[in-house]
Amino acid sequence: MTDRELYERAVEAAANAYAPYSNFHVGAALLLRDGRVVTGANVENASYPLGVCAERAALSRAVAEGVKPGEVEAIGITASPCGGCRQWLLEFRLDRVAFMHEGELLVRTPAELVPDSFEL
Ligand code: THU
Repeated sequence: MTDRELYERAVEAAANAYAPYSNFHVGAALLLRDGRVVTGANVENASYPLGVCAERAALSRAVAEGVKPGEVEAIGITASPCGGCRQWLLEFRLDRVAFMHEGELLVRTPAELVPDSFEL
């Protein structure tokens, strides 16, 4: 699957976002190394800080299915990932992060998105 195709899966997932407060629908699609695709969408809450980003929803779903760091090849996202999600993507050691930014599909590594990163 190409990064563009993965991004298109994220666009489909964004249709399921629960975002009544911001009206900003985000979708994410993970490509696992075994070829499976796991999607996520943002889920907001009346208590605003409790909302979950699409990337973290997708990663949490994958982990619940047994996925471990190193087993995700790439992610497609309909928006530029926030700082917290960048740190999550770093943790799972993806090869590529493909996201739409100002009308262009950018492809970066997690390390490029979080330079000089914190590690334990
Ligand atoms: N959002 C994401 O789902 N992912 C990001 O990386 C950026 C922000 C969501 C959170 C919130 O529901 C909405 O976009 C507006 O911030």
